[in-house]
Formats: sequence, structure tokens, C-alpha cells
Amino acid sequence: MAITITPLRPTLGAEISGVDLSRPLDAATKDALSRALAEHLALVFHDQSLTPEQYLAAAAAFGPPMRQHYSQHNMPDHPDIGLVWHRNGQQPAERWHTDHTNRERPPAATMLYGVEIPSRGGGTSVANMRAAYAALPDAEQAKLRELRTVNTLDDHHKDVRPEDAEKFGKPIMHPMVRIHPVHGSPAMYFHITKTAYIEGMSPGDSRAYLADLLDRMIRPEIVYTHQWRKGDVLVIDDRATMHRAHGDYDRSESRILWRIIVEGDRPMAA
Ligand SMILES: [Fe+2]
Repeated sequence: MAITITPLRPTLGAEISGVDLSRPLDAATKDALSRALAEHLALVFHDQSLTPEQYLAAAAAFGPPMRQHYSQHNMPDHPDIGLVWHRNGQQPAERWHTDHTNRERPPAATMLYGVEIPSRGGGTSVANMRAAYAALPDAEQAKLRELRTVNTLDDHHKDVRPEDAEKFGKPIMHPMVRIHPVHGSPAMYFHITKTAYIEGMSPGDSRAYLADLLDRMIRPEIVYTHQWRKGDVLVIDDRATMHRAHGDYDRSESRILWRIIVEGDRPMAA
């Protein structure tokens, strides 16, 4: 397969062409995609047509698919695929975050496949947290390198099944600045509503500091916003980005994304 990688924004995002994700990927293609993800942080594949089995096989190019913790939203016959769908009772995740930080080995990547797309709005934005970290003052970078978050399930989700809370709600500590295992660079790493507290700080002070960091760090020049077309696959590098959904679409229309997360390494402190 001849892969073409076309950058979408100066700071992140690339469109991949020449790859049919419904077919088995050879080792050279998997390696090229893994390096492209580490470099560009968000990969877009257009015009894909995938069964759940084909999608899971393609995801394995980026890592082993891992179980998502709000199990009521998982596809019944394929529980490693989560359904992002407001008619499931979900609210679009409009706050900046990275996925599943409550796991010891949190996802390397989140993959989204556009199955039903509203006629307008409903995009997904991705921010480069490598660039966000690099833009902070040296003294604050040094302070952040010493900090760790204690992560658990979101406190605002009221429909968590007891078995999910038991399996996935145990406190997990991660560095706030992590080194990317492929790229070798540092990036900011936290999930504001999965952080119970920053080690040594009260929950309230922790939440206020994380909100302040998000306000200061996420600027338009480090963001790529994906406007969905049916058949798109978006792969997001969870080790060096944050993302958010846009709820600006007509809720009488359907927006269904199939989500897979793939397991990554234990975050390594900078
Ligand atoms: Fe997410």
C-alpha cells in the first residue's frame, strides 16, 4: 500500500490516504501509521466502510483494544466498541480531556468511526498538549514535572454500573507531564473530571488549577477541529493531546460514532 500523509494544520493533524482499514495491514503500514500518529497526533482516514470485526482488526495496528468503563454504552455483540450516541442518554463530552486516565495503562489512542453524522455541527476538536506544555513558562514547567494526579471515575456520571465502579474506580496516580514513548517529547497529561485531586493539594484547589491551566493552554493555533463525514475514521493520540466533542448539532438528527480505545504504556514522568 502506498500511504500518503498530508498535514492538516501547522501544529497537528494529518490526513492519511492509500489505506483501506477494512483489509489486513502489513507490518510496514502499521509501523508508518504508528510513527505518523506520534508525529501528527490526530490522523484522519476518509471513505472507510467497516464492519465491527474489521474496525477492531484495524485498531490493533495502534495497540490492543481495551474495555471501556461505562459498559452500558458498549456494543452488545462487540463490547470493545463503545457507542457515542446522545440517544443512549449520553451528553456530548464538551470539556477538554484525554480518555480513561483512571487506568494504570491508559489508552495510547482513541479511535472514532463516523457511522451517522448530523447535517451540520457535531465536530470533534483535538489539542496538541505537547505544544501546550512547551508554551508554558519554564518555572511552571518545572513545577508541573513534580506533580501527580490521582484519577478515578468522573464524579458527574450518575449512571455508573456498580461492577464498573468496582473494576475501574480505584485511585490511579499519573504524572502531570509525561514523556511520549514513541516521540520522546513531554506533554501535559490530565483529565479534569477524573482527577480526584493533585497529590498534596485539596480537591477544590486541584480542580481550580486544572481549569486555569486549560484556559491558558488551549489556544486556537494548537487545535484541529474535525468536521465529520460519514465513513471517516479519526485516530487521536491520547498520550499528547486532549479532545472534546461539539454539541452544536440538531438533536433530532442522529450522531453515532463507534469508539475504540487501545491500550498504551504506563505514563512515564518527564
Ligand atoms: Fe473522550
